[in-house]
Amino acid sequence: MSCQDSFDWDLEMLSKEQQLRAAESYVLAALAETGVALEDDDGRAFRTRFETQFPQLFQLFATLYGEHEKCLDHLARLVVLAFTSWRDRADDLKELDQRREAQPDWFQSNQMLGAFCYVDLYAGNLAGLRKHVPYFQELGITYLHLMPLFDCPKENSDGGYAVSSYRDVRSDLGTMEDLRALAKDLREAGISLVLDFVFNHTSNEHEWALKAAAGDPEYSDYYWIFEDRRMPDAFERTVREVFPEDHPGAFIQMEDGRWIWSTFHSFQWDLNYSNPAVFCAMAGEMLSLANQGVDLIRMDAVAFIWKRLGTTCESLPEAHLLLRAFNCVCRMAAPSLLFKSEAIVHPDEVVSYIAPEECPISYNPLLMALGWEALATRNVELIDQAIERRQPIDPNCAWVNYVRSHDDIGWTFADEDAAELDILGFDHRLFLNAFYTNQFEGSFARGEPFQYNPKTGDCRVCGTTAALTGVEADDVGGIDRFILLYGIAFSAGGIPLLSLGDEVGQLNDHSYREMPSRAKDQRWVGRPMRPDALYDQRHDTTTTAGKIFTRMKQLIEARRAAPGLAGNAIKSVATENPHVLGYVRSGGGQDVYVLANFSDMPQKLSADQFLEMAPRMTDLITGEPFHVRTGVTLTAHQILWLT
Ligand code: GLC
Ligand code: GLC
Repeated sequence: MSCQDSFDWDLEMLSKEQQLRAAESYVLAALAETGVALEDDDGRAFRTRFETQFPQLFQLFATLYGEHEKCLDHLARLVVLAFTSWRDRADDLKELDQRREAQPDWFQSNQMLGAFCYVDLYAGNLAGLRKHVPYFQELGITYLHLMPLFDCPKENSDGGYAVSSYRDVRSDLGTMEDLRALAKDLREAGISLVLDFVFNHTSNEHEWALKAAAGDPEYSDYYWIFEDRRMPDAFERTVREVFPEDHPGAFIQMEDGRWIWSTFHSFQWDLNYSNPAVFCAMAGEMLSLANQGVDLIRMDAVAFIWKRLGTTCESLPEAHLLLRAFNCVCRMAAPSLLFKSEAIVHPDEVVSYIAPEECPISYNPLLMALGWEALATRNVELIDQAIERRQPIDPNCAWVNYVRSHDDIGWTFADEDAAELDILGFDHRLFLNAFYTNQFEGSFARGEPFQYNPKTGDCRVCGTTAALTGVEADDVGGIDRFILLYGIAFSAGGIPLLSLGDEVGQLNDHSYREMPSRAKDQRWVGRPMRPDALYDQRHDTTTTAGKIFTRMKQLIEARRAAPGLAGNAIKSVATENPHVLGYVRSGGGQDVYVLANFSDMPQKLSADQFLEMAPRMTDLITGEPFHVRTGVTLTAHQILWLT
């Protein structure tokens, strides 16, 4: 029986409540038809969660897809999918669901430490990575983001962000079994596994894409495909070019002459979420990921998932509805799975995704970029303003604070914020780009420009932390700058994120230039292989690697011992010194005053600023005592966590 036969989707005559009830019984009937029993433990647990989530899911679905004639059919299919996925979920994951439910704020702890790496670059393959678990544990890592590891095109795959199958591990990395085994090892070591959910696009080699390319109408509707240039031209009038060095505009031409939306590379085809079949299919891929033992999924490129003519096609209201709908599905079928947002956009937009019903966890690209900004300018005005104005979020959510991701650094501060400080956004970005690509006299940085757009003059910066802080150029302040930025990421709240290899000061890797598939993507300069030689030196404090490692360990251990650093609440503290950033973090009865000197010279803070504090404070990082009633002098690039 098709739902259409038995249900009249012309619900306008019914009240909201009646619509909901009608839809609910329709969906439950579809569930019963599959022969499932809702009377056993699994069934009852599902039923309870279904009852909590369904009103919301129905509302969202009706708003997104109400016009679609098969709307309710898709909704019914979705719920059946959620149920089967729940039934297939392994017992230890169901236990995890229960643990998380009992402690929903688990990720707010000051014990949390995130890290990320590429499986192949760090350990060859998944089996190799399992051997590093004891090291991760020893370092204190509790959250591990593995860069995309699913099947993807052989040559260029945008570092795996062009997914050809969400259900097959890339063959050189291992198998799905290896992935589950690794997830289990990690879980036993108290480490959450984080994987990407690359849901804005698939690769052009995904089964759906191949069918679309062959002209199959059902799968052509999975993507944004047009016969001629009329619609592409119309869309491109208002859409930003994300990878202009790859192709201009948002569309590329297919072999049969049609035009397809590709926001990123020409082999990454944007999915068409205005088609409910796409939503349901991707919900299936998401749940299959969850059942491999993934705790957290990184929602890749969230800002781009909904398109509407005449808009920028970024961060549209429907993007939020989609996230909410995906969330409802998860709450039914994989309740402990959490979403992390990857929106590297204007700060207002970044924050708009942060909500328990959307993404409780989010990258903090603003604080990241402004740390670098302050290092270049030696001035803390912008970062201080951002801490005061742009850090507060829902207390049930958390920032991921990082120094470097696997991507470029984009200068995502708000021009209107900068203007208040008499800074011209455009000019300032030009300066920062020049500074970090070593085209500015006296620069300590050794970064490379990425996606230079001659039409706008815009570009972004790539390189490892060591390359951008001056460690690579042997600049005297290099190591201190390195620790300064990590000292901020580790104390500013939420989950700090370490780029694995940074703890021993990994350097830029220029070998990508020799590889045709990578040569045009400068982000690879900041994605080196595991620096084995530096790791070997890490206990030798006469080496740079040893110096960095020792101080990174100090930061990690100091953070773990400081309840004041849990959660997200942060308050800016005026230091009356343009080079010194100040903020206070409070929790568990402890206040931690963070002071960070971005200048190349020592900076003195006068005693007046410490009148309300205890006369004797201790720096949590080094244990050094400070008698603050006589003022505090910070050495060049010093960061203090005073309590
Ligand atoms: C995200 C990833 C980036 C990738 C892009 C397209 O921004 O971090 O590496 O190129 O999405 O998937
Ligand atoms: C992201 C950003 C873009 C960034 C890219 C990855 O989604 O919006 O600015 O550079 O993808 O590099």
